[in-house]
Amino acid sequence: MKELSRVISAIEPSLTRQLFNEAKKYNDVIDFTLGDPDIQTPTGIKLAGCDAIISGKTRYSQNAGLLELRQVISRYCESKENLKYDPQTEIIVSVGAMEAVFLALSSMLNDGDEVIFPAPYYVNYKQMVEICHGVPVIVTDPNGVETLTCSIEAIRAAITDNTKLIILNTPSNPSGKIFSWDFIQGVADLAKEFDLYVITDEVYKCLVYDNAKRPKSIATLPGMKERTLYINSLSKEFCMTGWRIGYALGSPEIISAMTKLQENVAACAPLPSQYAAMEALRLDKDYSAKMAKIFAKRRNALVEEIQKSTKLKAIIPDATFYMMVNIKETGMNSVNFAYSLLKQTHVAVVPGITYGKVCNDYIRIAFTLDEEILREGVRRIVKYADSL
Ligand SMILES: Cc1ncc(COP(=O)(O)O)c(C=O)c1O
Repeated sequence: MKELSRVISAIEPSLTRQLFNEAKKYNDVIDFTLGDPDIQTPTGIKLAGCDAIISGKTRYSQNAGLLELRQVISRYCESKENLKYDPQTEIIVSVGAMEAVFLALSSMLNDGDEVIFPAPYYVNYKQMVEICHGVPVIVTDPNGVETLTCSIEAIRAAITDNTKLIILNTPSNPSGKIFSWDFIQGVADLAKEFDLYVITDEVYKCLVYDNAKRPKSIATLPGMKERTLYINSLSKEFCMTGWRIGYALGSPEIISAMTKLQENVAACAPLPSQYAAMEALRLDKDYSAKMAKIFAKRRNALVEEIQKSTKLKAIIPDATFYMMVNIKETGMNSVNFAYSLLKQTHVAVVPGITYGKVCNDYIRIAFTLDEEILREGVRRIVKYADSL
């Protein structure tokens, strides 16, 4: 048989999925691997999706998504982000934020173009850059290991003549950190100085804790709107992971390239889901505030349990439903810890190394489970770690 694509053959399935699959072998497992909320999509949104199906809205839409939905997205972003995008030319609806990242990278990259992003990073960026024939340049700041942060000097040092774009993900999966405004401004200055694009993935900005304000986007800075592609999604904000709706906002050139590609990839996002999304984004219904409250309570429970350990240290997240936990004191690396934890206690976590070499002393816990189960799972982790 002839050889399959070398690029795809070289891609390793992520450790997140490997641990998730391994966890399926146990029927009493507590699974903290995937960022997939257990909370139901709010009923009003579900009903809008059902109505669309029953009334026959089950066909294709425009490649960029229903104009009516793009208009709703435009109003939502103007109100929440203070950013104005033309629904006709500057917005595309995608099959989740993941497809938006993929369409963007495919539209922007030529062979060998370098894409910079700081570690810890969302694992699919690396894989997608490689699939799109780009070169991932992962920036590790040696001074940021304890805090899981990156300095602007480290980003600057990674820029070469081949750098095409920088990917930002704030609040960050997996660290749960919101990047400082100084850092964001620094990235914007570098983008302008070296003529780079920025993709900003802001899917977790709806889940910020401790009364923190919704973080401002890099796209709001002077001179940045035209070189930034802003990506968001309904998956986390409205507990709609399976509905597969995301969106990207950017210059007419980028959006038109992504739309051309969309015709050849998925044609469009699923139509009933687009109608459900319209319901979700209508501004007078604040569905997402309720989610944030639930996750804030869970985060506090998690911190309380981890703090009982003599060996584990929680990196308290400012946002998202992820927590990185430092396991250095156990003397184990993240992969051995995660596999042996699963085998001995039937609790599944993701080894930190998934998110960059800098995270090999960490595990990631997704607190997308009910509080009681969450506490039980963390008690098992603490007991195991403290016995080492
Ligand atoms: C940082 C980040 N971006 C994008 C996504 C993908 O989200 P969606 O379900 O909208 O494709 C995820 C999912 O976990 C994520 O963590």
